[in-house]
Amino acid sequence: MQTYITLNDGTKIPQFGLGVYMVPEGEQTYNAVINALKMGVRHIDTAHAYQNERSVGRPVKDSGIPREDVWITTKLWPHEYGEGKTTDAIDKMLARLDTDYIDLLLLHQQFGDYLGAWKDMEKAVKAGKVKSIGISNFESERLEEICEAASIKPSVLQVECHPYYQQNALKERIAKYGTVIESWYPIGHGDKILIGEAVFTRLAEKYGKSNVQIILRWHIQESNIVFPKTTNPDHMRDNFDIFDFELTAEEMGEIRALDCGKRFFNMSLEQQEGQLGAWHPAD
Ligand SMILES: NC(=O)c1ccc[n+]([C@@H]2O[C@H](COP(=O)([O-])OP(=O)(O)OC[C@H]3O[C@@H](n4cnc5c(N)ncnc54)[C@H](OP(=O)(O)O)[C@@H]3O)[C@@H](O)[C@H]2O)c1
Repeated sequence: MQTYITLNDGTKIPQFGLGVYMVPEGEQTYNAVINALKMGVRHIDTAHAYQNERSVGRPVKDSGIPREDVWITTKLWPHEYGEGKTTDAIDKMLARLDTDYIDLLLLHQQFGDYLGAWKDMEKAVKAGKVKSIGISNFESERLEEICEAASIKPSVLQVECHPYYQQNALKERIAKYGTVIESWYPIGHGDKILIGEAVFTRLAEKYGKSNVQIILRWHIQESNIVFPKTTNPDHMRDNFDIFDFELTAEEMGEIRALDCGKRFFNMSLEQQEGQLGAWHPAD
């Protein structure tokens, strides 16, 4: 049985979902989402920057699954941040997703007028356009700045997180706000060395699972929210088939020992502000 996490605002998020980063708008995103929904997945993670929100909204409608049974996360890009401005951006998102509300709306990056944007996000919660609000990639002192300024504390912090980069210090920093971690690059963006680690191969044999399933199960037991990306239906089926076994405390410890500070995304905050800030997704 799939698991849920109760967020600091009382909403219940399915702990496992499908991520659609780098999946092109149109047939590929549509098929990935509809296949996942047919397999029982109830959580999709997209973003304005992925340029595929329309192809997330359509299969959700076409599936016939009640809207309240599917969790949709999307993210604002920094050019949309600012009091007054962010409200318009949220309205455009609702139109692209063809939905009355967004389950979880995140600030995608930690630059631009994120404090102004947060005020509009809080207004959107009060207006019923958004259920839950959170942040992504806030790892500098800007994390505390926004958490302290917020009337509604961020429900989640979405960051790179996998066995080589487990984010334990960050978890301690956000605990006082009741904020929880969502893991991006949960299987290292498909990194073969990470996936091929001997401990995963041994545990995969023991449980009759794949190495990727062992990594995803580790995330679940670490209380991380995960949404690996796949456009391969066999991978989708396997990734979701992780709720019928449990790693022991000792095995969890063995995987924790892989934490070595290795990130797969290495861009300084200055580079991000320069390069990513110069780019705007189309409406
Ligand atoms: N907030 C942010 O800034 C941010 C940044 C990055 C990502 N994200 C979110 O996190 C999600 C996941 O990150 P990601 O997509 O970059 O990395 P990921 O999920 O760690 O890895 C995806 C890669 O693993 C492969 N894969 C998936 N399942 C597999 C399986 N069972 N066996 C073997 N290979 C498998 C996929 O290929 P196939 O398609 O061939 O299966 C793809 O190449 C994104 O889609 C997005 O929603 C957020």
